[in-house]
Amino acid sequence: MLILNKTAGVFSKPSKRNMYEFLRSFNFHPGKLFLHKLVLGIETSCDDTAAAVVDETGNVLGEAIHSQTEVHLKTGGIIPPVAQQLHRENIQRIVQEALSASKVSPSELSAIATTIKPGLALSLGVGLSFSLQLVDQLKKPFIPIHHMEAHALTIRLTNKVEFPFLVLLISGGHCLLALVRGVSDFLLLGKSLDIAPGDMLDKVARRLSLIKHPECSTMSGGKAIEHLAKQGNKLHFDFKPPMQRARNCDFSFSGLHHVIDKMIMQKEKEEGIEKGQILSSAADIAAAVQHTIACHIAKRTHRAILFCKQRDLLCQSNAVLVVSGGVASNLYIRKALEIVTDATQCTLLCPPPRLCTDNGIMIAWNGVERLRAGLGILHSTEGIRYEPKCPLGADISKEVGEAAIKVPRLKMKI
Ligand code: KG4
Ligand code: ZN
Repeated sequence: MLILNKTAGVFSKPSKRNMYEFLRSFNFHPGKLFLHKLVLGIETSCDDTAAAVVDETGNVLGEAIHSQTEVHLKTGGIIPPVAQQLHRENIQRIVQEALSASKVSPSELSAIATTIKPGLALSLGVGLSFSLQLVDQLKKPFIPIHHMEAHALTIRLTNKVEFPFLVLLISGGHCLLALVRGVSDFLLLGKSLDIAPGDMLDKVARRLSLIKHPECSTMSGGKAIEHLAKQGNKLHFDFKPPMQRARNCDFSFSGLHHVIDKMIMQKEKEEGIEKGQILSSAADIAAAVQHTIACHIAKRTHRAILFCKQRDLLCQSNAVLVVSGGVASNLYIRKALEIVTDATQCTLLCPPPRLCTDNGIMIAWNGVERLRAGLGILHSTEGIRYEPKCPLGADISKEVGEAAIKVPRLKMKI
Protein backbone atom coordinates (compact mmCIF):
# COMPACT_ATOMS: atom_id res chain seq x y z
CA MET A 1 0.00 0.00 0.00
CA LEU A 2 1.29 3.46 -0.86
CA ILE A 3 1.55 6.02 1.86
CA LEU A 4 2.03 9.48 0.42
CA ASN A 5 2.31 11.67 3.45
CA LYS A 6 5.35 13.86 2.86
CA THR A 7 3.18 16.93 2.48
CA ALA A 8 -0.24 17.44 3.93
CA GLY A 9 -3.07 16.92 1.48
CA VAL A 10 -6.62 15.70 1.26
CA PHE A 11 -5.58 12.17 0.45
CA SER A 12 -2.08 12.22 1.89
CA LYS A 13 -2.96 9.21 4.03
CA PRO A 14 -5.49 6.58 3.13
CA SER A 15 -8.48 7.59 5.23
CA LYS A 16 -11.66 5.57 5.17
CA ARG A 17 -13.68 8.38 6.71
CA ASN A 18 -12.62 10.88 4.02
CA MET A 19 -13.67 8.50 1.32
CA TYR A 20 -16.93 7.62 3.07
CA GLU A 21 -17.88 11.29 3.31
CA PHE A 22 -16.89 11.79 -0.30
CA LEU A 23 -19.15 8.92 -1.41
CA ARG A 24 -22.04 10.15 0.75
CA SER A 25 -21.96 13.48 -1.09
CA PHE A 26 -23.49 11.86 -4.16
CA ASN A 27 -27.17 11.76 -4.87
CA PHE A 28 -28.13 8.23 -5.67
CA HIS A 29 -30.59 7.62 -8.45
CA PRO A 30 -32.62 4.57 -7.54
CA GLY A 31 -34.61 3.21 -10.42
CA LYS A 32 -32.35 4.67 -13.12
CA LEU A 33 -31.06 1.82 -15.25
CA PHE A 34 -27.82 1.92 -17.20
CA LEU A 35 -27.84 -0.59 -20.04
CA HIS A 36 -24.13 -0.39 -20.61
CA LYS A 37 -21.08 -0.97 -18.47
CA LEU A 38 -19.70 2.23 -16.96
CA VAL A 39 -16.05 2.98 -16.25
CA LEU A 40 -14.58 5.81 -14.19
CA GLY A 41 -11.13 6.78 -15.48
CA ILE A 42 -8.57 8.66 -13.37
CA GLU A 43 -5.38 10.26 -14.73
CA THR A 44 -2.58 11.88 -12.71
CA SER A 45 0.60 10.71 -14.47
CA CYS A 46 2.04 14.13 -15.17
CA ASP A 47 0.59 17.60 -14.64
CA ASP A 48 -3.12 17.17 -15.32
CA THR A 49 -5.59 15.87 -12.77
CA ALA A 50 -8.35 14.37 -14.89
CA ALA A 51 -11.34 12.05 -14.55
CA ALA A 52 -14.18 10.88 -16.76
CA VAL A 53 -17.05 8.42 -16.89
CA VAL A 54 -17.40 6.60 -20.20
CA ASP A 55 -19.90 3.88 -21.10
CA GLU A 56 -19.30 0.69 -23.02
CA THR A 57 -20.31 2.23 -26.34
CA GLY A 58 -17.96 5.20 -25.97
CA ASN A 59 -20.43 7.79 -24.73
CA VAL A 60 -18.65 10.28 -22.50
CA LEU A 61 -21.12 10.78 -19.66
CA GLY A 62 -19.06 13.20 -17.61
CA GLU A 63 -15.55 14.59 -17.47
CA ALA A 64 -13.43 17.06 -15.52
CA ILE A 65 -9.85 18.22 -15.70
CA HIS A 66 -7.56 20.47 -13.71
CA SER A 67 -4.50 21.61 -15.64
CA GLN A 68 -1.33 22.67 -13.83
CA THR A 69 0.21 24.23 -16.96
CA GLU A 70 -0.01 27.81 -15.68
CA VAL A 71 1.83 27.01 -12.43
CA HIS A 72 4.56 25.06 -14.20
CA LEU A 73 4.99 27.77 -16.85
CA LYS A 74 5.83 30.22 -14.07
CA THR A 75 8.43 27.92 -12.47
CA GLY A 76 9.97 27.11 -15.85
CA GLY A 77 9.09 23.41 -15.82
CA ILE A 78 7.38 20.73 -13.78
CA ILE A 79 8.66 20.42 -10.21
CA PRO A 80 7.43 16.94 -9.13
CA PRO A 81 6.56 17.77 -5.48
CA VAL A 82 4.57 20.80 -6.69
CA ALA A 83 2.72 18.62 -9.21
CA GLN A 84 2.04 16.07 -6.46
CA GLN A 85 0.63 18.71 -4.12
CA LEU A 86 -1.63 20.12 -6.85
CA HIS A 87 -2.90 16.62 -7.66
CA ARG A 88 -3.69 16.08 -3.97
CA GLU A 89 -5.54 19.37 -3.76
CA ASN A 90 -7.65 18.66 -6.83
CA ILE A 91 -8.24 14.94 -7.22
CA GLN A 92 -11.33 14.65 -5.05
CA ARG A 93 -13.00 17.68 -6.65
CA ILE A 94 -12.18 16.49 -10.18
CA VAL A 95 -13.51 12.95 -9.62
CA GLN A 96 -16.59 14.41 -7.95
CA GLU A 97 -17.18 16.78 -10.88
CA ALA A 98 -16.81 14.00 -13.46
CA LEU A 99 -19.19 11.73 -11.55
CA SER A 100 -21.73 14.49 -10.91
CA ALA A 101 -21.71 15.55 -14.56
CA SER A 102 -22.29 11.93 -15.60
CA LYS A 103 -25.28 11.56 -13.23
CA VAL A 104 -23.86 8.14 -12.37
CA SER A 105 -23.62 7.28 -8.72
CA PRO A 106 -20.38 5.54 -7.68
CA SER A 107 -22.29 2.35 -6.87
CA GLU A 108 -23.38 2.06 -10.52
CA LEU A 109 -19.82 1.94 -11.86
CA SER A 110 -18.65 -1.33 -13.41
CA ALA A 111 -14.96 -0.63 -12.74
CA ILE A 112 -12.41 2.05 -11.92
CA ALA A 113 -9.48 2.50 -14.31
CA THR A 114 -6.41 4.51 -13.30
CA THR A 115 -3.07 5.36 -14.90
CA ILE A 116 -0.37 3.53 -12.97
CA LYS A 117 2.49 3.73 -15.55
CA PRO A 118 4.62 5.39 -16.91
CA GLY A 119 4.85 8.90 -15.47
CA LEU A 120 6.14 10.98 -12.58
CA ALA A 121 6.31 8.80 -9.47
CA LEU A 122 4.89 11.44 -7.14
CA SER A 123 2.02 12.23 -9.51
CA LEU A 124 1.14 8.59 -10.26
CA GLY A 125 1.08 7.90 -6.52
CA VAL A 126 -1.72 10.38 -5.86
CA GLY A 127 -4.05 8.90 -8.48
CA LEU A 128 -3.30 5.35 -7.41
CA SER A 129 -3.70 6.03 -3.70
CA PHE A 130 -7.04 7.78 -4.26
CA SER A 131 -8.28 5.05 -6.62
CA LEU A 132 -7.37 2.21 -4.28
CA GLN A 133 -9.42 3.77 -1.50
CA LEU A 134 -12.35 4.22 -3.84
CA VAL A 135 -12.07 0.64 -5.09
CA ASP A 136 -11.85 -0.60 -1.53
CA GLN A 137 -14.97 1.29 -0.42
CA LEU A 138 -17.05 0.50 -3.47
CA LYS A 139 -15.88 -3.10 -3.88
CA LYS A 140 -15.42 -2.56 -7.62
CA PRO A 141 -12.90 -4.13 -10.00
CA PHE A 142 -9.73 -2.10 -10.62
CA ILE A 143 -8.14 -1.73 -14.07
CA PRO A 144 -4.52 -0.47 -14.05
CA ILE A 145 -3.80 1.59 -17.17
CA HIS A 146 -0.63 2.19 -19.21
CA HIS A 147 -0.70 5.89 -20.11
CA MET A 148 0.75 5.41 -23.61
CA GLU A 149 -1.57 2.51 -24.44
CA ALA A 150 -4.45 4.78 -23.48
CA HIS A 151 -3.20 7.54 -25.81
CA ALA A 152 -2.84 4.96 -28.60
CA LEU A 153 -6.36 3.51 -28.29
CA THR A 154 -8.21 6.83 -27.91
CA ILE A 155 -8.83 6.89 -31.66
CA ARG A 156 -11.14 3.86 -31.32
CA LEU A 157 -13.44 6.00 -29.19
CA THR A 158 -13.88 8.61 -31.93
CA ASN A 159 -13.41 6.56 -35.13
CA LYS A 160 -14.11 3.06 -36.29
CA VAL A 161 -10.54 1.78 -36.42
CA GLU A 162 -9.76 -1.93 -36.47
CA PHE A 163 -6.48 -3.53 -35.37
CA PRO A 164 -3.76 -3.43 -36.59
CA PHE A 165 -2.83 0.22 -37.02
CA LEU A 166 0.29 2.30 -36.69
CA VAL A 167 0.52 4.92 -33.96
CA LEU A 168 2.84 7.88 -33.53
CA LEU A 169 2.76 9.34 -30.00
CA ILE A 170 4.42 12.73 -29.65
CA SER A 171 4.13 14.70 -26.44
CA GLY A 172 6.15 16.48 -23.76
CA GLY A 173 7.27 13.23 -22.21
CA HIS A 174 7.09 10.71 -25.02
CA CYS A 175 8.02 10.09 -28.60
CA LEU A 176 7.37 6.68 -30.07
CA LEU A 177 6.19 4.75 -33.08
CA ALA A 178 4.33 1.51 -32.46
CA LEU A 179 2.19 -1.02 -34.23
CA VAL A 180 -1.05 -1.63 -32.34
CA ARG A 181 -2.19 -5.23 -32.89
CA GLY A 182 -4.69 -5.48 -30.05
CA VAL A 183 -5.87 -3.90 -26.80
CA SER A 184 -2.66 -4.91 -25.04
CA ASP A 185 -0.58 -6.08 -28.00
CA PHE A 186 1.97 -3.50 -29.14
CA LEU A 187 5.18 -3.69 -31.20
CA LEU A 188 7.56 -0.80 -30.55
CA LEU A 189 9.22 0.26 -33.83
CA GLY A 190 11.15 3.28 -32.58
CA LYS A 191 11.43 5.88 -29.84
CA SER A 192 13.33 9.01 -28.91
CA LEU A 193 16.87 8.26 -27.79
CA ASP A 194 16.89 11.37 -25.63
CA ILE A 195 14.15 13.96 -25.04
CA ALA A 196 10.64 14.18 -26.50
CA PRO A 197 9.70 16.81 -29.11
CA GLY A 198 7.31 18.63 -26.75
CA ASP A 199 10.05 18.85 -24.14
CA MET A 200 12.37 20.36 -26.73
CA LEU A 201 9.75 22.85 -27.91
CA ASP A 202 9.09 23.82 -24.27
CA LYS A 203 12.82 24.38 -23.70
CA VAL A 204 13.23 26.47 -26.87
CA ALA A 205 10.14 28.54 -26.02
CA ARG A 206 11.57 29.16 -22.55
CA ARG A 207 14.97 30.11 -23.97
CA LEU A 208 13.21 32.55 -26.33
CA SER A 209 11.27 33.93 -23.31
CA LEU A 210 8.00 33.51 -25.17
CA ILE A 211 6.15 33.71 -21.86
CA LYS A 212 6.89 37.46 -22.06
CA HIS A 213 5.45 37.67 -25.58
CA PRO A 214 2.01 39.33 -25.36
CA GLU A 215 0.40 36.77 -27.70
CA CYS A 216 1.95 33.66 -26.11
CA SER A 217 2.04 34.29 -22.35
CA THR A 218 -0.51 31.62 -21.43
CA MET A 219 0.43 29.05 -24.07
CA SER A 220 2.44 25.86 -23.61
CA GLY A 221 5.87 26.02 -25.27
CA GLY A 222 4.81 23.95 -28.28
CA LYS A 223 1.69 25.99 -28.88
CA ALA A 224 3.65 29.24 -28.56
CA ILE A 225 6.16 28.02 -31.16
CA GLU A 226 3.34 27.04 -33.53
CA HIS A 227 1.65 30.41 -33.05
CA LEU A 228 4.81 32.46 -33.59
CA ALA A 229 6.00 30.30 -36.51
CA LYS A 230 3.04 31.55 -38.56
CA GLN A 231 4.59 35.04 -38.50
CA GLY A 232 8.12 33.84 -39.30
CA ASN A 233 10.18 32.73 -42.28
CA LYS A 234 11.59 29.23 -41.86
CA LEU A 235 14.17 29.84 -44.61
CA HIS A 236 16.07 32.39 -42.49
CA PHE A 237 17.62 29.53 -40.52
CA ASP A 238 18.89 26.22 -41.77
CA PHE A 239 18.74 23.58 -39.02
CA LYS A 240 19.50 20.06 -40.21
CA PRO A 241 17.02 17.30 -39.25
CA PRO A 242 18.72 14.85 -36.82
CA MET A 243 19.85 11.26 -37.55
CA GLN A 244 19.66 11.53 -41.33
CA ARG A 245 22.04 8.63 -41.83
CA ALA A 246 20.47 6.26 -39.32
CA ARG A 247 18.04 4.09 -41.25
CA ASN A 248 15.82 3.25 -38.29
CA CYS A 249 12.69 4.69 -36.70
CA ASP A 250 14.33 6.22 -33.64
CA PHE A 251 14.23 9.95 -32.92
CA SER A 252 16.57 12.46 -31.34
CA PHE A 253 15.96 16.06 -30.30
CA SER A 254 18.68 17.08 -27.86
CA GLY A 255 21.44 17.59 -30.49
CA LEU A 256 19.11 19.87 -32.44
CA HIS A 257 18.16 21.61 -29.20
CA HIS A 258 21.83 22.33 -28.54
CA VAL A 259 22.33 23.79 -32.05
CA ILE A 260 19.28 26.03 -31.61
CA ASP A 261 20.51 27.18 -28.21
CA LYS A 262 23.84 28.20 -29.71
CA MET A 263 22.07 29.99 -32.55
CA ILE A 264 19.91 31.95 -30.09
CA MET A 265 23.00 32.98 -28.14
CA GLN A 266 24.67 34.19 -31.35
CA LYS A 267 21.55 36.13 -32.38
CA GLU A 268 21.38 37.79 -28.95
CA LYS A 269 24.96 38.99 -29.47
CA GLU A 270 24.17 40.25 -32.98
CA GLU A 271 21.03 42.06 -31.89
CA GLY A 272 22.78 43.37 -28.77
CA ILE A 273 20.12 42.11 -26.35
CA GLU A 274 20.30 40.34 -22.99
CA LYS A 275 19.18 36.77 -22.31
CA GLY A 276 15.52 37.06 -21.28
CA GLN A 277 14.57 39.69 -23.86
CA ILE A 278 12.69 38.68 -26.99
CA LEU A 279 14.73 38.46 -30.20
CA SER A 280 13.42 40.23 -33.29
CA SER A 281 14.13 36.96 -35.12
CA ALA A 282 12.15 34.82 -32.61
CA ALA A 283 9.37 34.10 -35.11
CA ASP A 284 11.86 33.02 -37.81
CA ILE A 285 13.58 30.72 -35.30
CA ALA A 286 10.21 29.28 -34.26
CA ALA A 287 9.30 28.62 -37.92
CA ALA A 288 12.64 26.93 -38.66
CA VAL A 289 12.52 24.80 -35.48
CA GLN A 290 8.98 23.67 -36.20
CA HIS A 291 9.86 22.82 -39.82
CA THR A 292 12.96 20.82 -38.83
CA ILE A 293 11.07 18.84 -36.19
CA ALA A 294 8.22 18.19 -38.62
CA CYS A 295 10.66 16.84 -41.26
CA HIS A 296 12.40 14.60 -38.69
CA ILE A 297 9.14 13.16 -37.39
CA ALA A 298 7.78 12.71 -40.92
CA LYS A 299 10.87 10.84 -42.12
CA ARG A 300 10.90 8.35 -39.23
CA THR A 301 7.16 7.77 -39.62
CA HIS A 302 7.57 7.26 -43.37
CA ARG A 303 10.15 4.53 -42.67
CA ALA A 304 7.83 2.88 -40.13
CA ILE A 305 5.04 2.73 -42.71
CA LEU A 306 7.40 1.23 -45.31
CA PHE A 307 8.66 -1.34 -42.77
CA CYS A 308 5.13 -2.40 -41.85
CA LYS A 309 4.14 -2.64 -45.51
CA GLN A 310 7.26 -4.66 -46.33
CA ARG A 311 6.45 -7.13 -43.53
CA ASP A 312 2.73 -7.12 -44.27
CA LEU A 313 1.97 -5.88 -40.74
CA LEU A 314 -0.73 -3.37 -41.71
CA CYS A 315 -4.10 -3.86 -43.36
CA GLN A 316 -3.44 -4.09 -47.14
CA SER A 317 -6.55 -2.24 -48.26
CA ASN A 318 -6.71 0.42 -45.54
CA ALA A 319 -3.47 1.11 -43.69
CA VAL A 320 -4.05 3.58 -40.88
CA LEU A 321 -1.61 5.93 -39.14
CA VAL A 322 -2.89 7.43 -35.87
CA VAL A 323 -1.10 10.45 -34.43
CA SER A 324 -1.71 11.52 -30.85
CA GLY A 325 -0.14 13.24 -27.82
CA GLY A 326 0.13 16.97 -27.10
CA VAL A 327 2.43 17.71 -30.06
CA ALA A 328 -0.08 16.07 -32.43
CA SER A 329 -2.27 19.14 -32.07
CA ASN A 330 0.37 21.02 -34.10
CA LEU A 331 -1.19 21.57 -37.52
CA TYR A 332 2.15 22.09 -39.28
CA ILE A 333 3.42 18.70 -38.08
CA ARG A 334 0.12 17.12 -39.08
CA LYS A 335 0.53 18.59 -42.60
CA ALA A 336 4.00 17.05 -42.86
CA LEU A 337 2.54 13.68 -41.84
CA GLU A 338 -0.27 14.10 -44.36
CA ILE A 339 2.35 14.40 -47.13
CA VAL A 340 3.75 11.05 -45.95
CA THR A 341 0.38 9.28 -45.73
CA ASP A 342 -0.64 10.63 -49.16
CA ALA A 343 2.58 9.27 -50.65
CA THR A 344 2.10 5.84 -49.04
CA GLN A 345 -1.69 5.48 -49.53
CA CYS A 346 -2.39 5.48 -45.82
CA THR A 347 -5.19 7.10 -43.88
CA LEU A 348 -4.06 9.66 -41.30
CA LEU A 349 -6.25 9.93 -38.20
CA CYS A 350 -5.86 12.23 -35.19
CA PRO A 351 -8.15 12.41 -32.17
CA PRO A 352 -9.59 15.89 -31.60
CA PRO A 353 -7.09 18.19 -29.77
CA ARG A 354 -8.74 17.82 -26.34
CA LEU A 355 -8.27 14.04 -26.60
CA CYS A 356 -4.68 14.35 -27.90
CA THR A 357 -3.47 15.89 -24.64
CA ASP A 358 -3.77 14.12 -21.28
CA ASN A 359 -7.36 13.57 -20.18
CA GLY A 360 -9.52 11.23 -18.13
CA ILE A 361 -11.62 10.07 -21.09
CA MET A 362 -8.77 8.11 -22.65
CA ILE A 363 -8.16 6.31 -19.34
CA ALA A 364 -11.85 5.42 -18.89
CA TRP A 365 -11.99 4.30 -22.55
CA ASN A 366 -8.94 2.09 -22.08
CA GLY A 367 -10.78 0.61 -19.10
CA VAL A 368 -13.78 -0.07 -21.36
CA GLU A 369 -11.54 -1.71 -24.00
CA ARG A 370 -9.96 -3.92 -21.34
CA LEU A 371 -13.32 -4.75 -19.80
CA ARG A 372 -14.69 -5.79 -23.21
CA ALA A 373 -11.58 -7.86 -23.98
CA GLY A 374 -11.44 -9.32 -20.44
CA LEU A 375 -7.85 -8.13 -20.01
CA GLY A 376 -6.19 -6.88 -16.83
CA ILE A 377 -9.27 -6.56 -14.61
CA LEU A 378 -8.27 -6.92 -10.98
CA HIS A 379 -10.57 -8.06 -8.21
CA SER A 380 -7.81 -7.71 -5.63
CA THR A 381 -5.46 -4.75 -5.57
CA GLU A 382 -2.95 -6.24 -3.19
CA GLY A 383 0.63 -5.50 -4.17
CA ILE A 384 -0.34 -3.09 -6.91
CA ARG A 385 2.37 -0.47 -7.50
CA TYR A 386 2.85 2.45 -9.83
CA GLU A 387 5.73 2.19 -12.32
CA PRO A 388 7.39 5.50 -13.33
CA LYS A 389 9.25 3.79 -16.17
CA CYS A 390 7.55 1.25 -18.36
CA PRO A 391 8.18 0.44 -22.03
CA LEU A 392 5.36 0.10 -24.53
CA GLY A 393 4.94 -3.41 -25.94
CA ALA A 394 7.61 -5.64 -27.46
CA ASP A 395 10.61 -3.67 -28.71
CA ILE A 396 11.48 -4.59 -32.33
CA SER A 397 13.34 -1.35 -33.08
CA LYS A 398 16.59 -3.27 -33.63
CA GLU A 399 14.95 -5.35 -36.34
CA VAL A 400 13.61 -2.16 -37.92
CA GLY A 401 17.14 -0.71 -37.96
CA GLU A 402 18.55 -3.90 -39.47
CA ALA A 403 16.03 -3.69 -42.32
CA ALA A 404 17.74 -0.32 -43.12
CA ILE A 405 14.92 0.88 -45.35
CA LYS A 406 15.81 3.82 -47.57
CA VAL A 407 13.06 6.39 -47.51
CA PRO A 408 12.34 8.21 -50.78
CA ARG A 409 12.70 11.98 -50.52
CA LEU A 410 9.40 13.83 -50.34
CA LYS A 411 8.89 17.53 -51.07
CA MET A 412 7.87 19.04 -47.71
CA LYS A 413 5.86 21.93 -49.14
CA ILE A 414 3.81 22.89 -46.11
O1 KG4 B 1 0.25 14.95 -24.13
P1 KG4 B 1 0.58 16.15 -23.32
O2 KG4 B 1 -0.55 17.00 -22.82
O3 KG4 B 1 1.35 15.77 -22.03
C1 KG4 B 1 2.46 14.92 -22.01
O4 KG4 B 1 3.56 15.42 -22.31
O5 KG4 B 1 2.25 13.72 -21.73
O6 KG4 B 1 1.59 17.03 -24.16
C2 KG4 B 1 2.11 18.26 -23.72
C3 KG4 B 1 3.19 18.72 -24.70
C4 KG4 B 1 3.94 19.96 -24.24
O7 KG4 B 1 5.32 19.74 -24.41
C5 KG4 B 1 3.45 21.05 -25.18
O8 KG4 B 1 4.42 22.04 -25.44
C6 KG4 B 1 3.13 20.26 -26.42
O9 KG4 B 1 2.57 19.05 -25.96
N1 KG4 B 1 2.16 20.96 -27.28
C7 KG4 B 1 2.40 21.31 -28.55
C8 KG4 B 1 1.26 22.01 -29.00
N2 KG4 B 1 0.34 22.01 -27.99
C9 KG4 B 1 0.91 21.37 -26.95
N3 KG4 B 1 3.47 21.12 -29.32
C10 KG4 B 1 3.43 21.61 -30.58
N4 KG4 B 1 2.39 22.29 -31.08
C11 KG4 B 1 1.27 22.51 -30.34
N5 KG4 B 1 0.24 23.17 -30.86
ZN1 ZN C 1 0.27 11.99 -22.26
